[in-house]
Amino acid sequence: MSNASPGSLESVVIVGASSSLARAMAACFAAGDHALVLAGRDTAELEVIAQDLRVRYARPCRVLHFDALDYGSHPGFVAECTAALGAPPDGAVVCFGMLPVQEEAQEDFTVAGRCLDTNYTGAMSVLERFAGVFEARGSGFIAAVSSVAGDRGRKSNYHYGAAKAALNAFLGGLQNRLHARGVSVTTVKPGFLDTKMTWGLVLPALLVTDPERAAAIAVRGILKRRSIVYVPGYWRLIMLVIRHIPGVIFKRLSL
Ligand SMILES: NC(=O)c1ccc[n+]([C@@H]2O[C@H](COP(=O)([O-])OP(=O)(O)OC[C@H]3O[C@@H](n4cnc5c(N)ncnc54)[C@H](OP(=O)(O)O)[C@@H]3O)[C@@H](O)[C@H]2O)c1
Repeated sequence: MSNASPGSLESVVIVGASSSLARAMAACFAAGDHALVLAGRDTAELEVIAQDLRVRYARPCRVLHFDALDYGSHPGFVAECTAALGAPPDGAVVCFGMLPVQEEAQEDFTVAGRCLDTNYTGAMSVLERFAGVFEARGSGFIAAVSSVAGDRGRKSNYHYGAAKAALNAFLGGLQNRLHARGVSVTTVKPGFLDTKMTWGLVLPALLVTDPERAAAIAVRGILKRRSIVYVPGYWRLIMLVIRHIPGVIFKRLSL
């Protein structure tokens, strides 16, 4: 494997890079010859992940601080990515997310608000900044990890689902805007993943995917510039069925 400088490789910024899914996606990008910027709140943890990737894949891997809720810092963050790589990145992938305890979101507006602010507003804010740079350059790829929860509101997680639905609509519009400029936009929609986020939840074991498998599917779809990638692919069918359940039946179900 090469010990190439960032300038000779495609580069990708992964935002929310301490997430279990993002770590595995970073390894897939590194294995596929990408220089990386890993960004998130816990830079000490990210430095450990970056060092592991440098050793395993001999790829340049930088670490930057990023907080999805600090919207004012996002324009400067994109400039920091460019400075770290020596040029604007080729791709940007948003992986951060927040799944509140449903009852807490119902009872406490600040919890419901933080869910929307993180999953939607934070993602929208930082992706708009990358979109402007990629649009001006006329190339690049953008992706965000959404969720099947955004496909239809369910009582078990409808604040989270609503935020992810907003993200889906945003990404659809962004794709519509950027397609003519040669910039792809991919919406990644995982089903249940075995990660920190779902720790302690009772999930149907057969439908739970490990982060490494999920990451391989997601990164393949992003690099193929797919519009929407269900993770794994069978969730496309599951959600097609769920979306088409008539409201009169749906409201009686416990989902
Ligand atoms: N797990 C599932 O079943 C599942 C299903 C569908 C979709 N997803 C989505 O997959 C993505 C990855 O989640 P995961 O399952 O890998 O869970 P995870 O390990 O809990 O990752 C969540 C990540 O979001 C980051 N984050 C939260 N708030 C942030 C903020 N204000 N600023 C910056 N980063 C912030 C966390 O950073 P810290 O380390 O700093 O807390 C963490 O890296 C999320 O978008 C999630 O919604 C997950």
